[in-house]
Amino acid sequence: MLLAIETSCDETAAAVVQPDLEVCSSVVATQIPVHARYGGVVPELASRSHLTAVGPVVRSAIEQSGCSLDQIEAIGVTAGPGLAGCLLVGLQAAKAMAWSLGVPLVPVDHIEAHIQAVFLKDAQGAGKVVPNYPFIALAVSGGHTSLYRVEGPRDLELLGQTLDDAAGEAFDKTAKMMGLPYPGGVHIDRLAQEGDVAAVDLPRPMLNRGLDFSFSGLKTAVRYHIEGEARDGITVPAPSDLAASLQEAIVDVLCTKAIRAARAHDIKEIVVAGGVASNSRLRAKIVSETAPHGIRAHLVPGRYCTDNAAMIGGLA
Ligand code: KG4
Ligand code: ZN
Repeated sequence: MLLAIETSCDETAAAVVQPDLEVCSSVVATQIPVHARYGGVVPELASRSHLTAVGPVVRSAIEQSGCSLDQIEAIGVTAGPGLAGCLLVGLQAAKAMAWSLGVPLVPVDHIEAHIQAVFLKDAQGAGKVVPNYPFIALAVSGGHTSLYRVEGPRDLELLGQTLDDAAGEAFDKTAKMMGLPYPGGVHIDRLAQEGDVAAVDLPRPMLNRGLDFSFSGLKTAVRYHIEGEARDGITVPAPSDLAASLQEAIVDVLCTKAIRAARAHDIKEIVVAGGVASNSRLRAKIVSETAPHGIRAHLVPGRYCTDNAAMIGGLA
């Protein structure tokens, strides 16, 4: 059994994972209420919240797994990327556990762990169909938007990445402009269900060019529709229409580039991972758009898309 700890951003998480990648327990304590009134993550508050949460979260992950401490054979932990003060809390907790139990400490990369989450197995049916190597991975989170060619665990080639904002950041920042609560991605997703994707004409930045991404221009475009048009007395779109149009613009670019990468490398499998991979429109569209090309889309189950420690355990 491996115990994993994740504290890179605003979730304190611990999990117990078996060597065959079966998840025995996965506990996530979110800090959303701590940061909500600031409209984004406040790093110092995040570190302090991790400090108070990490002990109880680790304890409940062990309790829920039904394992005893002497069955823990290694400790996995997120080494980066993430907020330095936050990472430090998880690393110190993991080091202390590893030292006191006399077991190895396995530091892992957060983004690689998001991708490897596609191999996790659980009683709810995760891991029934897994990709074969090599595959293309689209890792989309609050801090990253990257395309990789994945040859094996810890064997990744970066093919493209965002030149400015990450896709999650684009969701969160535009949501904030629209007055939606933090974190905005999930609220845009919900609001978009009632909206018209064609209502607002938004750009698809760098759609026809390469495998890199750029999302910062979308913020300006959305701002124009919220403020500029209101100022000029032109119709301001309904929030649901703006949400649907924004989501479609982001998802269009993500799907187009992931498929472009797969075709360029003649690879028939694409893994979609990271917090933004829980977006309902991205999940639907990547499946429908890959099928005509004979490409299979593997979606990380929703419970392992946003930050969690099971994915850290899986890679560790
Ligand atoms: O992977 P993650 O939990 O943390 C990072 O490693 O950054 O990703 C968080 C990001 C946030 O930007 C959040 O708004 C976005 O994932 N997100 C979503 C959805 N759920 C979470 N974005 C769009 N639609 C969603 N349903
Ligand atoms: Zn993450």
